[in-house]
Amino acid sequence: RPAAAPLPTGHPLLDGRTAGSPLVRAMRGERTRQRPVWFMRQAGRSLPEYRKLRAEADDTSMLAACLHPELATEITLQPVRRHGVDAAVFFSDIVIPLKLAGIDVEIVAGRGPVLADPIRSAEQVAALPELDPATLEPISQAVAGTVAELGGTPLIGFAGAPFTVASYLVEGGPSRDHLYTKAMMVGAPQVWDQLAGWVARTTAAFLRAQIMAGASAVQLFDSWAGHLSRSQYRIGAAPHSAAVFRAVADLPVPKVHFGVGTGELLADMHTVGADMVGVDHRVDLSDAADRLSGSVPLQGNIDPAMLFAGRKVLHRHTEEVLRSGAAAPGHVVNLGHGVPPNADPSVLTELVEFVHSNPDPAADD
Ligand code: CP3
Repeated sequence: RPAAAPLPTGHPLLDGRTAGSPLVRAMRGERTRQRPVWFMRQAGRSLPEYRKLRAEADDTSMLAACLHPELATEITLQPVRRHGVDAAVFFSDIVIPLKLAGIDVEIVAGRGPVLADPIRSAEQVAALPELDPATLEPISQAVAGTVAELGGTPLIGFAGAPFTVASYLVEGGPSRDHLYTKAMMVGAPQVWDQLAGWVARTTAAFLRAQIMAGASAVQLFDSWAGHLSRSQYRIGAAPHSAAVFRAVADLPVPKVHFGVGTGELLADMHTVGADMVGVDHRVDLSDAADRLSGSVPLQGNIDPAMLFAGRKVLHRHTEEVLRSGAAAPGHVVNLGHGVPPNADPSVLTELVEFVHSNPDPAADD
């Protein structure tokens, strides 16, 4: 990593606002007294104030909301105000850079991203348009506006990893089996590499814009990588995820890499360039720590189902996660996957209070 930090002056990680925050310190491998906690999908449909704002918007589509800087800022701040979490996560979506590049994609409520024309042929891949960096302006504005309101609370930027994003392009929508995507990856590797290379460039530009505008950490979501065998992952996915991490390696913000069902891939997901690995609820954090030689900070992994099991069960399960997470050099508490839209927000607020009322007895500070 180059020594000089090319983050712009006034970036919250450089000017003293967020470098000492529990989140950034834990991501850098410190045991912090206050265990930092945030939730994937903390913004969104579980919050009545979100549903109200979306219903009142002029253009009520999900992607329009993401590209409206004031709206995106407000939605990003809502869960921070309500729950007192240790980080904001930028309100956007993994398909936003595709939309900005000119791909005809929309998000259908209750379903997910849907494309007008799935990308399946070499001709379609060759014709993919390059992203014009000027189109990222609403993203930079929304991030800057959010960071100006957040004070010492860090903003986490994010993007989708090439395999997961390419799956939406190839399948044309959400998929249970990712059949066409895996068939292309293995059966037409040159076409696949060109497609995944395009996604990596497009996604890296989106990620870079968020960091430069003030994100203090980033997370690369490879949500569906758990559908790949380890050798498929190593050959078809890892090189393209590594390209995304390389494209932001000069920007000294901590970088998290997360996937669902990726217990077999944890070491590979670390070596492609991540500082911290996010673990879903299928693997105990102490086992994940073992698989990473105890040397990698971990994020996770409260089972989202336990949000529905009553306070006693949720607290017992959370204590188990905190104990298990102590096997890693740094631990950021999160769910094993996103907040379910029907989760009771008061349960999440209480969960933040519960984590904060359990300081780490072996903390470095
Ligand atoms: O709070 C946050 O976490 C930030 C916002 C965020 C969204 N999408 C907003 C959103 C984040 C981090 C994402 C990432 C994302 N998007 C992923 C990776 C994370 C994961 O869950 O594994 C994926 C796979 C997508 C693609 C996508 N977008 C899906 C599968 C869906 C769900 C469809 C549905 O309605 O259930 C979306 C839509 C989406 N993205 C919503 C939100 C708040 C819900 C749509 C709405 O509110 O109208």
